Amino acid sequence: MSERAQFTTRMGAIAATVGSAVGLGNIWRFPYEAGQNGGGAFLLIYLLCVVVMGIPVMVAEFVIGRSTHRNVCGALRQLSPHSKARWFGYVGITASLMILSFYSVVCGWIVEYLVLAVSGRLTGLEPNGYATMFTSFASHPWRPVLWTALFLLLNHLVLRRGLKRGIERASNVMMPLLFVILVIFAIHSLLLPGAERAVNFLMAPRLEDVTPDVALKAMGQAFFSLSLGLSCLLTYASYFKNSDSLTRNATVIALLDTLVAVMAGLMIFPAVFSYGMEPQAGPKLIFEVLPIIFNQMHMGIVWAVLLFMLLFLASITSSISMSEISIAFLTEEHNISREAATTVNTGIAVVFGSLCALSFGPLSGFTICGKTLFDLFDFVSSNVLLPLGGIFFSLFVGWHLDRRMVNAQLSHGPFVAIVIFCMRYVAPVAIASVFIYGLL
Ligand code: PFF
Repeated sequence: MSERAQFTTRMGAIAATVGSAVGLGNIWRFPYEAGQNGGGAFLLIYLLCVVVMGIPVMVAEFVIGRSTHRNVCGALRQLSPHSKARWFGYVGITASLMILSFYSVVCGWIVEYLVLAVSGRLTGLEPNGYATMFTSFASHPWRPVLWTALFLLLNHLVLRRGLKRGIERASNVMMPLLFVILVIFAIHSLLLPGAERAVNFLMAPRLEDVTPDVALKAMGQAFFSLSLGLSCLLTYASYFKNSDSLTRNATVIALLDTLVAVMAGLMIFPAVFSYGMEPQAGPKLIFEVLPIIFNQMHMGIVWAVLLFMLLFLASITSSISMSEISIAFLTEEHNISREAATTVNTGIAVVFGSLCALSFGPLSGFTICGKTLFDLFDFVSSNVLLPLGGIFFSLFVGWHLDRRMVNAQLSHGPFVAIVIFCMRYVAPVAIASVFIYGLL
């Protein structure tokens, strides 16, 4: 058997994993979820979820992946040959394909808006022209499908080149660029007159806003944002070197991911408040509200290009990581070439992605349990499958695996005792309670 690939450097491993975590979840979803769910209250619960559930579940995934150096099903089979644990691998693979399908629709919108911004067609409309523009684009019978497919093709081209020349190299270039753009943007926004209100909105928790629903959303957001519960990080950790410290990597990744989410809020809300807009616009915030602002801003075109560029960089490094789950599974469990596995992944995502893309137009009347396919995939994966995966991984590593093996994996790193305590007790109980409470 040929030697299994590993990330070349620790920097490369961190860049790729942060690339997975930092995505639309941070820059598109976090600001609008925070905007709709009480700002500071949401941020507070979110931070709590990252510490008591996010980091422990991440470490659990890392232990499984790094100790076996295999794809999710192979890893679970190796660690627990006589149990049904590997079935959770299939759940993870299904969840990753569901996420990839609806995720690439939004990525497709981003590519369209990037092209509009670069070609100067995003400026010069009347304020209410932007809502009409977005609705007519999103409900168009084929344009969103085309952009979704184009995005998946770009994703395919990176993945085909393999771990080192594709994923690691792309992450090493894209992630530093993303941080530079984000910092420039946040500084610019914080100098706007609405900055104080924005900081207040995001940072001051109004406790009366904390409800079970807000808690469920914050937890779903933490899982989604950290790419947890569906074995994405397990797969990346299977490419980590044995010398990497798992708790240190997890802490760095969770910190950077949270930092980007907060900075995205600080980049978007000052502009929203300065130009007299409302923060509750939901998923359409960046497509309908921000272009109105760019239209009035000095050098608005440049800021529009930077924003959509930022979103593009963030989203493609995440979609790559979701795809790697099935690619690793197919190449290792079914012995097919990386190229063929990448094509299968892209093919499935193009079919389901197109159906999700049409949820805003011709298929908007097609609903299951009152949700369009796009909303259903989003809800089932983020609010149901990821938390269930999180409970499974923390119980599996916390209780089922040999303690000596787990300790050996975590031997050189900070916070080990706290992380193990949270993994065994706090995370499963907290995830299960928020999950059940929120669904009632
Ligand atoms: N963490 C990504 C984001 O915040 O956009 C989304 C994501 C990536 C979810 C990879 C799941 C995953 F496996």
